[in-house]
Amino acid sequence: MKEYNIVLLKGDGIGPEIVTQAVKVLRRASEKFGFGLSFEEALLGGAAIDATGVPLPQETVDRCRAADSTLLGAVGGPKWDSLPGKVRPEAGLLGIRSALGLFANLRPAVIFEQLRGASPLKAEIIGDDLDIMVVRELTGGIYFGERGRETVNGVESAHDTERYSVPEVERIARVGFEMAKKRRGRLCSVDKANVLESSRLWRATVARIGKEEYPEIELTNLYVDNCAMQLVRNPKQFDVIVTSNMFGDILSDEASMISGSIGMLASASLGAGKAGLYEPIHGSAPDIAGTGMANPLATILSAAMMLRYSLEEPQAAQAIEDAVAKVLKTARTADIWTEGTKRVTCEEMGDLVCSLL
Ligand code: IPM
Ligand code: MG
Repeated sequence: MKEYNIVLLKGDGIGPEIVTQAVKVLRRASEKFGFGLSFEEALLGGAAIDATGVPLPQETVDRCRAADSTLLGAVGGPKWDSLPGKVRPEAGLLGIRSALGLFANLRPAVIFEQLRGASPLKAEIIGDDLDIMVVRELTGGIYFGERGRETVNGVESAHDTERYSVPEVERIARVGFEMAKKRRGRLCSVDKANVLESSRLWRATVARIGKEEYPEIELTNLYVDNCAMQLVRNPKQFDVIVTSNMFGDILSDEASMISGSIGMLASASLGAGKAGLYEPIHGSAPDIAGTGMANPLATILSAAMMLRYSLEEPQAAQAIEDAVAKVLKTARTADIWTEGTKRVTCEEMGDLVCSLL
């Protein structure tokens, strides 16, 4: 029997509650589909700052490196908001992505049939269904560029720099093309090549990889401002979007909202090897932590992505996704609740998904 070792980074706010539900679902799936799972916890974010003084202890990096994959809840909260940049919970998140070499962030934005009414877009704009995959570069660009503050002649200023090398663009472009190949064969590369030099390099590199290695994929380019507009004007035109770290951060929030609830969307961060880091797109929602109101479905769907992309258990992944689609017909957490469905807590939602598996 295959046996997988998973590190849990529960994090802050609602993180522990939602990860607990995802673990329950993973255990149930492992019994049903006949594979073994072992879990160990490690510290990240505010929880790590409180316990050790730093947002990403070396021990956490070591454990994640040794594991088959990592499941993350969410990090951050008002308690740590006034700390300086380097020791904020967010620095732990960026640090673990970088330390594990997870340069490709996959953020699917899909509409669940039962939640169509929750999308802020009109029904005719959404059409029958919507399924966009945002591939975001995750370990380069302005997030990791040289930065600083300086005071010259009494005037204070600050700077951050965007830098991409050709190999960095090549490898994320390949992830985008491969994804498009498995889906509907269309890739849209998003940049700001009318202004930024780094974007001009990006665009030329993606075009060359497309021509040399993926002639069968339809490649288009959009400036990021136009893409932001097109996402709400006609989202159905998109299959896979590949873009830089910061543009991907912004566009993936926008794409996720089209689906109605950011509480539903999963993500995967992958590197050169099989292991990945899986997390919901939403944050730590400290305002509802401990109330039982959190929606665990994005974390449960992240666990399903882990089974598909890192653990080679696609049937279990599919079963979890089917169970989630089914549960939405009758039960909802507060964030997506509507008349005619039962309003359930985070824990009850986890139990329901298990019972449908
Ligand atoms: C995300 C988040 C993070 C990011 C923050 C919390 C550092 O917004 O995962 O999209 O900007 O990458
Ligand atoms: Mg973000």
